[in-house]
Amino acid sequence: MHCMKSLVINLPVRKISYEIEFSETFKELNTRLKEQIGKRKFLIVSDQNVDKFTSFLNTFDKKNILILPPGEKTKHWPYVEKILDKCFEEKLDRSAVLVAIGGGVIGDITGFAASIYKRGIPVIQIPTSLLAMVDASIGGKTGIDCQYGKNLIGTFHQPEKIYACEEFLKSLPLSEIKSGLGEMIKHGILGSPKHFTDLEKIANPNPTAKRIFPLVRDSMNIKSQVVEQDEREGGARMQLNLGHTFGHAIELLHDFKFSHGIAVAIGTVMAAQYALEHGICNEETVDRIENIFNKFEMDITCDLSEEQIWQAMANDKKVKEGRIRLVLPEKIGKVRVHTV
Ligand SMILES: NC(=O)c1ccc[n+]([C@@H]2O[C@H](COP(=O)([O-])OP(=O)(O)OC[C@H]3O[C@@H](n4cnc5c(N)ncnc54)[C@H](O)[C@@H]3O)[C@@H](O)[C@H]2O)c1
Ligand SMILES: [Zn+2]
Repeated sequence: MHCMKSLVINLPVRKISYEIEFSETFKELNTRLKEQIGKRKFLIVSDQNVDKFTSFLNTFDKKNILILPPGEKTKHWPYVEKILDKCFEEKLDRSAVLVAIGGGVIGDITGFAASIYKRGIPVIQIPTSLLAMVDASIGGKTGIDCQYGKNLIGTFHQPEKIYACEEFLKSLPLSEIKSGLGEMIKHGILGSPKHFTDLEKIANPNPTAKRIFPLVRDSMNIKSQVVEQDEREGGARMQLNLGHTFGHAIELLHDFKFSHGIAVAIGTVMAAQYALEHGICNEETVDRIENIFNKFEMDITCDLSEEQIWQAMANDKKVKEGRIRLVLPEKIGKVRVHTV
């Protein structure tokens, strides 16, 4: 069934464009992926959860698959070396392609390995978490963590194609669904009142893949448009930090015990409250933002003091010349950057 049209991302600076294709079933995705790979050699990189909880990898030969442990701890040098070693063992040349099939962790590390293997080979991104679909797979940022912090080592390496498939969402734990919803709601607030309203309509404590997936396309479109305006993160991409300056401080103070999406949700509410206090948005905007998180039963209560959070933000890497740049909502669908 080709019911959902693909999206095209155009990056004018480097004259690159690529497609995001949508499918409902693994069967359909499988056909399209095999067509896209064609006669090229390839290596699929995935994680143990995707391997265990979905059937997608079953039709591929084991020698073409590398399965890594799940979780953020995988986004480190030793696993980059594992991917590169496997590429050498399988004698991949520069015409080969890497295929990332996983959440943001697998997408980021596989994209990074692809960008440095023999000075760079193509990567296909197949995001399997909601967060990776609507956020991490788009925009070409790749990378790993190190002892000095998260995502500090990396490259820009645009994928040759992105595939979003509904069937992956069926095995995704509810907490991961909610993490992705945090970013989707963010996209609505920064770029599209319609997207926000559509999300309000499906908001309930246990949203199904069937209801969410049609909105994934709109969310990916909003992120794509921001990336198109600002491929290398000089200006417009800043908007995507809505909820993230507060959110990152919360993650640090809680030693990453919150899921990223929940931290972003709390951060977004804080940004809205700050905007209200400074006459940047009205009360209705704050109410709608709080309500949507409540309706999805995303717990936005936070026991940290304002003082603690501001202190942590001052130490954040995104602070320029000692000033904090906050992205604040003006209304649903529009944000502005505010320097404190
Ligand atoms: N490159 C970017 O622009 C960008 C943007 C946002 C986030 N990120 C990065 O993405 C990462 C977070 O992504 P994430 O939330 O997807 O984390 P993740 O990759 O750890 O996936 C979350 C969990 O879901 C599991 N999982 C994934 N797909 C599944 C499926 N279909 N069924 C069952 N389980 C499944 C994973 O094994 C993992 O346990 C972070 O490292 C972050 O830095 C990158
Ligand atoms: Zn985020």
